[in-house]
Amino acid sequence: MTSSVTLLPGRQVIAVTESESILDAALRAGINLPHSCKGGHCASCRARILSGAVRYPSDLPPGLTPQEQAEGFALLCQARPASAELTIEVRQTHTPVADTQVRSIPCRIEHMTPLAPDVMEVRLRLPQSEVFTFIAGQYIDIMLPGSRRRSFSLANPPHDAGQLELHVRRVRGGEFTQQLFESMKEKMLLRIEGPLGQFAFREDSVRPALLVGGGTGYAPLRAMLRSLLERGDTRPLHLYWGAATQADLYAEPEIRQWLTQYPNLQYTPVLSAPPADWSGRSGLVHAAVLADHPRLADFDIYAAGPPAMIEAIRHEFVAAGLPRDQLFFDSFDYAPDALAKLKAAGVAP
Ligand SMILES: Cc1cc2nc3c(=O)[nH]c(=O)nc-3n(C[C@H](O)[C@H](O)[C@H](O)COP(=O)(O)OP(=O)(O)OC[C@H]3O[C@@H](n4cnc5c(N)ncnc54)[C@H](O)[C@@H]3O)c2cc1C
Ligand code: FES
Repeated sequence: MTSSVTLLPGRQVIAVTESESILDAALRAGINLPHSCKGGHCASCRARILSGAVRYPSDLPPGLTPQEQAEGFALLCQARPASAELTIEVRQTHTPVADTQVRSIPCRIEHMTPLAPDVMEVRLRLPQSEVFTFIAGQYIDIMLPGSRRRSFSLANPPHDAGQLELHVRRVRGGEFTQQLFESMKEKMLLRIEGPLGQFAFREDSVRPALLVGGGTGYAPLRAMLRSLLERGDTRPLHLYWGAATQADLYAEPEIRQWLTQYPNLQYTPVLSAPPADWSGRSGLVHAAVLADHPRLADFDIYAAGPPAMIEAIRHEFVAAGLPRDQLFFDSFDYAPDALAKLKAAGVAP
């Protein structure tokens, strides 16, 4: 069955098959609805069902409470249509990404450069006829067989988009990243879809910004920093980068160079498994931010990285007084098919 779904207030009508999520169908139609993790955790895709019904492939997603469901809310990254017609009120996004067009494009792996033991820089070359417009902070999906996809943030800024740059962390047992590290070669062809996501810097804000990255969560923050700094933005920017060991802080030479060039930039690396001779900050990166900034409400916060870090930031920063509308994040979550496999095996996170 294919359902007809009307999205308000824009009145766009999309066709959604019973096996795909409403968010995926919208993105396929070029409508960049609010979302982040696509795993049912972050609630960025929450919307109100005005008429018709939805179902979930398994249990209620963790990001939606039974009460919210009873009030008519749904998480569009997980919800499938359960009636022939549906009307959904989606959140309006007054963000810079509203105008970017999601496209499916072939590309070639131009270079693969190891950055750290488990991190690879991947540069993708697009066909010369393609003009790929995106906003710093957004991500792309790499398409796998069977319409499955894997998400990776763009690490380069839009003003330097001759090639798309990704920082890919190897996931043990991961279908795509394992292949990338073990058997994929330069010049191979891939298909990507993008740009995607709502993670973008609010340049109209007057507040200083704290950028908090965990591991390869540095990638979208790098795109934002380069975009701002290389265009002469002088607002105070403080990058906190959390990693296990010093080797995982794979971009330090570049950051240290920026510190000599841009007086408005501050940098705090935080190691969770520091060596005995480490004299810098240690522990969890979000805890370092909380310790340094008792008045979080004075800042805008941009966070990207593992789901556990984003969860901690969403709860603890808001509890410490950060207004929710000053927190912007991308949660590097599991791909929906990997999560479904984990759930089927009874080991979902
Ligand atoms: C919006 C967004 C942006 C992202 N940007 C980046 C990026 O810039 N760089 C980057 O390295 N990653 C990024 N990720 C995470 C990345 O998409 C996953 O790590 C990737 O999909 C893993 O693919 P795979 O096929 O290798 O593993 P899969 O085959 O999907 O997973 C295999 C197993 O690995 C585990 N696993 C899967 N994903 C994760 C995870 N994220 N963390 C911990 N364990 C996991 C699970 O146990 C799973 O069963 C992003 C994710 C999202 C949602
Ligand atoms: S819960 Fe749907 S995008 Fe995160």
